Amino acid sequence: MKILVTGGAGYIGSHACLELLEAGYEVIVIDNLSNSKEESLTRVQELTDKELKFYKADLLDREALDKVFKEQAIDAVMHFAGLKAVGESVSMPLGYYHNNITGTLMLCEAMKKHGVRDLVFSSSATVYGDPDRVPITEDFPLRATNPYGQTKLMIEQILQDLHVADDSFNIAILRYFNPIGAHKSGRIGEDPNGIPNNLVPYITQVASGKMRELRVFGDDYPTPDGTGVRDYIHVVDLVLGHLKALDKLQTNPGVVIYNLGTGQGYSVLEMVDAFSKVVGKPIPYKVTDRRQGDIPTCFADPTKAKKELSWTATMGLTQMCEDSWRWQSNNPDGY
Ligand code: NAD
Ligand code: UD1
Repeated sequence: MKILVTGGAGYIGSHACLELLEAGYEVIVIDNLSNSKEESLTRVQELTDKELKFYKADLLDREALDKVFKEQAIDAVMHFAGLKAVGESVSMPLGYYHNNITGTLMLCEAMKKHGVRDLVFSSSATVYGDPDRVPITEDFPLRATNPYGQTKLMIEQILQDLHVADDSFNIAILRYFNPIGAHKSGRIGEDPNGIPNNLVPYITQVASGKMRELRVFGDDYPTPDGTGVRDYIHVVDLVLGHLKALDKLQTNPGVVIYNLGTGQGYSVLEMVDAFSKVVGKPIPYKVTDRRQGDIPTCFADPTKAKKELSWTATMGLTQMCEDSWRWQSNNPDGY
């Protein structure tokens, strides 16, 4: 089976390419490298000793997209390509809507034209906004609190409408909780541009001495230690959920929606503590004001994915920290 991976050079996409190749799929990647480097794909091929085909192309380029679908007999698509920085989406809403929404529309049009009907889409737990309670199940009310989240909500709606109009489309919408970690080789991982926005890349850069100290955004939340609680999931567990979703699409399920999380929440201070143990020294931090738009607590109820996909996250916190740290220490400046 030939799988088109959009955004395949990125953090999650590169791990997906690796697991797809290991599982015997043929892999075609489209990426414009706006937030990634081709080196990630070189390393994926080295690690697997298998080849993939890379097209440096933008989803917004209709002709380039058409060329890929003409040249390759694609069976299914995993759609990771998108812009993902929440703060940036607030200052550049038009760019975010254009890239994420129009990019997805163009992709779906190309799929329709070329008779490709199976799609796995990267959504996010951000579509639940500030949930009324935890753990979060897939039927919780949806709300977006920033343009990035809004693009995920709108794309989910577009994909459902697409299926209503043409029920030969089978679509898996996967709502990720907080992906962290890296492949165990330490050769591929998350390579943020500039100062990291997310907790784990920040912690690992503090641990490696690139940043002086972590700012803990608030310790007055209604959580056991007052700091924010999240459901951190190993990126390899996450992408294995995509392979299970791909299997599910072969049963013609229509549109299916799954949370991909572990079901276990950890606070910021618990993360700092876990990393200190793995790194073998304290992670300096200071508590500052809350970050605007943050919520106190967010973790998944992953029961539906377990039942319907036979998928469950297996890697625990220590392994996630070890793998994040191995990537950071082997690649202090990223790729
Ligand atoms: P990433 O930025 O590392 O990867 C996205 C890739 O898409 C990049 O390689 C980028 O160059 C490419 N891209 C962006 N716009 C493109 C376009 N128009 N045409 C072609 N390529 C384009 O991000 P990631 O962390 O790997 O995230 C992958 C997907 O998962 C995104 O859709 C993101 O919104 C979603 N997601 C990520 C997280 C997370 O914490 N990382 C959480 C929830 C959902
Ligand atoms: C962020 C995004 C969310 C996205 C998710 C996964 C925001 C507001 N939300 O969520 O839309 O789906 O990433 O990519 O950006 N923290 C610190 N100090 C830091 C960084 C983070 O204390 O330097 C805290 C945060 O307050 C939070 C926790 O660590 O409690 C996790 O933060 P982060 O990694 O940014 O993820 P989310 O906020 O869950």
